[in-house]
Amino acid sequence: MKRPKNDNFLRALLKEPTDHTPLWLMRQAGRYLPEYCETRKRAGNFLNLCKSPTMACEVTLQPLARYDLDAAILFSDILTVPDAMGLGLYFAEGEGPRFERPLREEWAINNLTATDPYEHLGYVMDAVSEIRRALDNSVPLIGFSGSPYTLACYMIEGQGSSDFRHIKGMMYSRPDLLHKILSVTTDSVIAYLNAQIDSGAQAVMIFDTWGGSLSNAAYQEFSLQYMQRIIAGLKKEKDGQRIPSIVFTKNGGLWLEKIAAIGCDAVGLDWTIDIGDARRRVGDKVALQGNLDPNVLFAPPEVVAAEARKVLDSFGPGNTGHVFNLGHGISQFTPPDSVTALVDAVHGYRQG
Ligand code: CP3
Repeated sequence: MKRPKNDNFLRALLKEPTDHTPLWLMRQAGRYLPEYCETRKRAGNFLNLCKSPTMACEVTLQPLARYDLDAAILFSDILTVPDAMGLGLYFAEGEGPRFERPLREEWAINNLTATDPYEHLGYVMDAVSEIRRALDNSVPLIGFSGSPYTLACYMIEGQGSSDFRHIKGMMYSRPDLLHKILSVTTDSVIAYLNAQIDSGAQAVMIFDTWGGSLSNAAYQEFSLQYMQRIIAGLKKEKDGQRIPSIVFTKNGGLWLEKIAAIGCDAVGLDWTIDIGDARRRVGDKVALQGNLDPNVLFAPPEVVAAEARKVLDSFGPGNTGHVFNLGHGISQFTPPDSVTALVDAVHGYRQG
């Protein structure tokens, strides 16, 4: 199996020299694109869109048709895994994700079993193969999963939360129950990501959106430890090509060295940390992905370009080890032309 024609993204992750700093954007296929809204309307709702391989493939390709991006990301959601574990995912219009059966009772936790990705998430594997065919080796395809801790937040709270009182209540009163949930979820995630790799994903990313809400000790015990297990369980190669892994803990800047030590190839950064400082802290242990504040995209194009250059200047010289991205997902209210300004600035950048 050959690498894609534009393999700058894979090169940067593996710290090989690149032609330019590659970029892609978290949530690059989403509601800021009118064509996405149109397909989503046709699907009826977001979950139908995720569960239709053909429509998931269509929206995956939409941002690449508009912009010169260096990678595609599978269109899906992290919460399909707990859905496959039987929790009953639904999206109440305008209210975000919900589970019909949040995990709170000891008996339900003891009955939890890991999901077989081919049996319960076959639609994701079909989407991955369909997207790979459609990409025709133009750019690499990223597969992904939520981290066990971030998935457990939704599984236990039953929805998004601002205080996480149910999961943290369990963590401090019955850590054994939380560990059981995390360990079954970890097994599900390993099987799920390996199935994505077997179906054609050329890099994988773990989204740990809520690990940064934990105390220092709890982060290591309840989030990082399980991500380390996932990395250890991932296929490292497919058809003779390395499959790099990216770990992104939002608000995890404090723990950068520890994240860099779990065996991943790259660490995702949110915008609260200076990427040059981050680079000095990790040395050449891992590549870095990030880290423009997504709200920069609400400024005029010349400001977008200047802010992008600040990130690139701060990362510093050496044509490798940096994948440009936002520090979190792109907002649904982003003007699409701001993304054009961003892509031009990153691809046109020359070290001053
Ligand atoms: O990056 C991509 O383009 C790939 C697709 C992707 C989505 N969700 C599509 C989506 C990815 C990688 C995710 C990850 C995800 N999902 C995370 C981790 C990253 C992060 O953003 O912190 C989390 C926490 C979720 C759970 C989730 N899904 C929430 C909280 C919501 C509602 C928030 C919102 O913006 O409305 C979703 C829905 C969702 N997932 C949308 C998209 C494009 C919007 C749904 C819509 O079209 O109505």
